[in-house]
Amino acid sequence: MTDRIEEMIETAAAMVASGRGVLAIDESTGTCQKRFDTIGVECTADNRRDYRHTLLSADGLGEYISGAILFDETLRQQAPDGTSLVKIMQDADIIPGIKVDKGAKEMAGFEGEKITEGLDGLRERLQEYYDLGARFAKWRAVITISEGTPTQACVDANSHALARYAALCQEVGLVPIVEPEVLMDGSHDIATAYEVTELTLKTLFDQLFQQNVILEACILKSSMVVPGSDCAEQADAEEVAEATLSCFFNTVPASLAGIVFLSGGQSEVEATEHLNAMNQMGQLPWPLSFSYGRALQASALKVWGDNPKANVKAAQEELLHRARMNSLATLGQYDEQSENN
Ligand code: 13P
Repeated sequence: MTDRIEEMIETAAAMVASGRGVLAIDESTGTCQKRFDTIGVECTADNRRDYRHTLLSADGLGEYISGAILFDETLRQQAPDGTSLVKIMQDADIIPGIKVDKGAKEMAGFEGEKITEGLDGLRERLQEYYDLGARFAKWRAVITISEGTPTQACVDANSHALARYAALCQEVGLVPIVEPEVLMDGSHDIATAYEVTELTLKTLFDQLFQQNVILEACILKSSMVVPGSDCAEQADAEEVAEATLSCFFNTVPASLAGIVFLSGGQSEVEATEHLNAMNQMGQLPWPLSFSYGRALQASALKVWGDNPKANVKAAQEELLHRARMNSLATLGQYDEQSENN
């Protein structure tokens, strides 16, 4: 084994080590603008830096958070005292990660479906990110459920791009997070979500195999199998946990380093409850953890937005609470009492 492969296997294991998960703060400038609009804060580079610095410097965050996914801008930013955010993370035992895709764009010829772009020039960008301190990367594909979608063509094209990205990451020593997000939007039922997630994961792992991706040095970031947000029949935590795990058992090789979840529009508590229910279902082939964006940040963002200068500590407390709750959920030890303490 080359040193680089060994290093990636170690990094991947650290990302999903017992009781720890990944914080996603890699919103593109456009998405960050949308989030800041909800709290009435202007979306300037300095404000984005201040917000993310607030989160990353929460005292003791590294106990629950193994790594954080950054946007390109953040990887290059410094705290007001001149310390780079990367250095702050390294000192807190939080591995720097980087979102490297260029976003999900309309897929030509396939109305209502998206294809993620960003492969051109990726090899050079990945090397730069490694040199800047990143040790893992993320690429998100979007799969939409509606009448007539997803098409096989969309699932194939996105899986192919994910696998090519993953192979390029491993070439430079970055652990790839492959994220095929099956969107919750729509009125489909949980059985449909199951079928689409199963097709997506089967196709993805076939492509990863074809592109020689080392699964021991790769992390899957998955959506959970949940009914569409407009479906009349919603599911409880047990049903979500059973459907999601059953889907993984049918599609995800046991050699994969780990699985983390996106929250995708679930509330903070729902996302924690679902993860907890899965980790209560006995021994699994892979560590099962979290890589939430909104479900880790929603309360912290709101508190920070109320008064960005005065509420730094209060916002950090909100983030630490959610990180601690999700840490408990990775161990199957989350309950209402911990939530309310
Ligand atoms: P959410 O948890 O808000 O879905 O974000 C996770 C993420 O990184 C999506 O790419």
